[in-house]
Amino acid sequence: MPWGRACVPGEWLGRRVTSYVTGSYAERAVAAVSALTVVPDGLDLRGAAALVHDGVTANGLLDLTAVGPGDRVLILGASGGMGTLLVQLAHEREARVVAVARGDAKLALVRDLGADDVVDATRDDWVSAARKALGGAVEGADVVLDGVGGGLGAAALPLTVDGGRFSAHGAPSGGFSPLDTEEATRRGIELFGIADVQFGPTDLRRFTSDAYAEAATGRLRPVIGEVFPLERAAQAHAAIEGRGLVGKVVLEVVQV
Ligand SMILES: NC(=O)c1ccc[n+]([C@@H]2O[C@H](COP(=O)([O-])OP(=O)(O)OC[C@H]3O[C@@H](n4cnc5c(N)ncnc54)[C@H](OP(=O)(O)O)[C@@H]3O)[C@@H](O)[C@H]2O)c1
Repeated sequence: MPWGRACVPGEWLGRRVTSYVTGSYAERAVAAVSALTVVPDGLDLRGAAALVHDGVTANGLLDLTAVGPGDRVLILGASGGMGTLLVQLAHEREARVVAVARGDAKLALVRDLGADDVVDATRDDWVSAARKALGGAVEGADVVLDGVGGGLGAAALPLTVDGGRFSAHGAPSGGFSPLDTEEATRRGIELFGIADVQFGPTDLRRFTSDAYAEAATGRLRPVIGEVFPLERAAQAHAAIEGRGLVGKVVLEVVQV
């Protein structure tokens, strides 16, 4: 049966929704009603697009690593699409947030989003600077959220306190962090990876709605580095690889 307005139950007509879809990068997509999340008033569609994936993972990661009041949280890749959300949401949970990013402009942004302290990843001594910034009786992080991977992520494992939590979910550096699992076991550090942030439909709906509700009330700010029309998707990817942008890069379908 051809799809179109006639196939959409009346109560959904005209509503603003998002969904995970198969075959995105398209002007139109089909989604099951059960997979829709309503975008609340107070949140524009670009903001929702910036949250539909990263907001879910950010909320899921903070639940997974049980970030709570007083936790010292180290966030690597803090100026990226998910990093900018993690900084805000961890701050909202009353954690002490130390954000690692590259260069003054990105550091200023993450501080503005709620980081208690910032460390420039290009510093040769960034590990000791981060240790000092995390503070505590035993200097270090209760939770490390590694959205970068590679050598940077691996260098952060020693920053985790005994009995802490470390999530190696990111690989923009080219690969996930090669972690010393023996060290982690010996020191009672709980390790999480990309497989731990694959959520089922119920969690997906809950984390998406939570992120939208936070953004609609202004407590969570989706950071959009640049918006590209769909026809310029290749340039959008080049911009991400160039690492000049902050937050999320959004592709927009221009309605004709
Ligand atoms: N978004 C999600 O829902 C989700 C889910 C699961 C896993 N992940 C993974 O988590 C990671 C972070 O996601 P994201 O959405 O925040 O990505 P993103 O927006 O592309 O941000 C990546 C960050 O990593 C930093 N980075 C460090 N070394 C880099 C390198 N060699 N090349 C590129 N960037 C580098 C960049 O900041 P600087 O340039 O300042 O260093 C940038 O802020 C990705 O690997 C992604 O696949 C994401």
